[in-house]
Amino acid sequence: MIKNSRQGPLIRAEAVSRVYPLSGNRSVIGIHRIDLRIDPGELVVIKGESGSGKSTLLSLLGGLDSPSEGRLFVAGRKLHRARPEELTQFRRTAVGMVFQSFNLLPTLTVLENVALPSLLAGNPPGQTRTRAEELLDWLSMTPRLDHMPGQLSGGEMQRTAIARALINDPEIILADEPTGNLDSRNAAAVVALLADLNRRWQRTVVIATHSDLADPHATLQVRLLDGAIVSGGS
Ligand SMILES: Nc1ncnc2c1ncn2[C@@H]1O[C@H](COP(=O)(O)OP(=O)(O)OP(=O)(O)O)[C@@H](O)[C@H]1O
Ligand SMILES: [Mg+2]
Repeated sequence: MIKNSRQGPLIRAEAVSRVYPLSGNRSVIGIHRIDLRIDPGELVVIKGESGSGKSTLLSLLGGLDSPSEGRLFVAGRKLHRARPEELTQFRRTAVGMVFQSFNLLPTLTVLENVALPSLLAGNPPGQTRTRAEELLDWLSMTPRLDHMPGQLSGGEMQRTAIARALINDPEIILADEPTGNLDSRNAAAVVALLADLNRRWQRTVVIATHSDLADPHATLQVRLLDGAIVSGGS
């Protein structure tokens, strides 16, 4: 997948659908004919009831899944009909993802969890370690570098996950309900971090959430209903 020199939106979805086949002839609609344009530097908040398609949309934008129909371009890559190895490469370099349940590897230390995507991308261990330590220092995690995820608080786990999402310097951060497992103080801290990444470091940030915490920072609000965009699409 050749990275094009790009003009215009960083994310462009044209009539993107994801249908989940079930047994027999049945299927469930995840999202249906979504049109969406997100420019570089935006902070997008995606809202919608449980089951409205937020996680489905974020998985597609992050290359964890592929559209059933439609065209999807993210960071100059064509994600519809991409080969698995192209999606792997895309996930390693173009996007960083943060999840509600943190998704840290339980048998690796904080430092190792953060370093892993960089090592998988083929960066040298020394350079990787320096960058991981710098990121974790910025996130006030230096005293916890050698801790295992099971020894961390929820806020510390999410800060570790954010450092991991940033290690390969992605253009886009995708966060799926990032404050869902946090108390109000840690939730506010995580939203402040994401807003900071957007404002100070010009990262494009997309947050799917039920919470209103990120609303004041949003440049675009998208509302989903039954898999379709009811406001904020293109
Ligand atoms: N792997 C799957 N197989 C079958 N159906 C799925 C799958 N993943 C999601 N769905 C269905 O697709 C629809 C959208 O789900 P999705 O997880 O995207 O919603 P959501 O907005 O993220 O909800 P929540 O707020 O609860 O996280 C739902 O009807 C869901 O049941
Ligand atoms: Mg979800």
